[in-house]
Amino acid sequence: MVTNRTFTILKPDSVEKGYIGAILEKISVSGFRIVAMKLTQMTKADAETFYAIHNERPFFKDLVEYMTRGPIVAAVLEKENAVEDFRTLIGATNPADATEGTIRKLYATSISENAVHGSDSDENAAIESAFHFSGREIF
Ligand code: TYD
Repeated sequence: MVTNRTFTILKPDSVEKGYIGAILEKISVSGFRIVAMKLTQMTKADAETFYAIHNERPFFKDLVEYMTRGPIVAAVLEKENAVEDFRTLIGATNPADATEGTIRKLYATSISENAVHGSDSDENAAIESAFHFSGREIF
């Protein structure tokens, strides 16, 4: 398994607010190389599968609605220690708790609309990348 890759989504709020360029710039200057990327929109079934781990949680319905309401940018990123370093770069799930300078601190508005996704393990990075990209779309 490739362990120096992670998967990210610039969520619908980031796209709606015109933050794609700024967030990709931050990702790039932080040393991540984009090895796959697309503008796409998740279906309800996609979002329910992607966030299946949360399907018993009270916020699940709102989460699915939010993630499907408009286009997203999906991308695979490469860097040494990608998963952990990207989680550090995006900051805490709740932007109110996020460190200054992190993507969520800069661009997210709330815990439920928190601008970006970052895989939480190498295993999930591989699963999530394969969910959004075929082998020939990852360079
Ligand atoms: P989680 O996997 O806990 O966080 P992270 O995205 O930092 O890995 O949660 C997934 C998403 O679910 C989170 O990005 C936003 C949403 N969410 C809520 O809307 N409310 C909540 O209380 C939590 C914990 C998450």
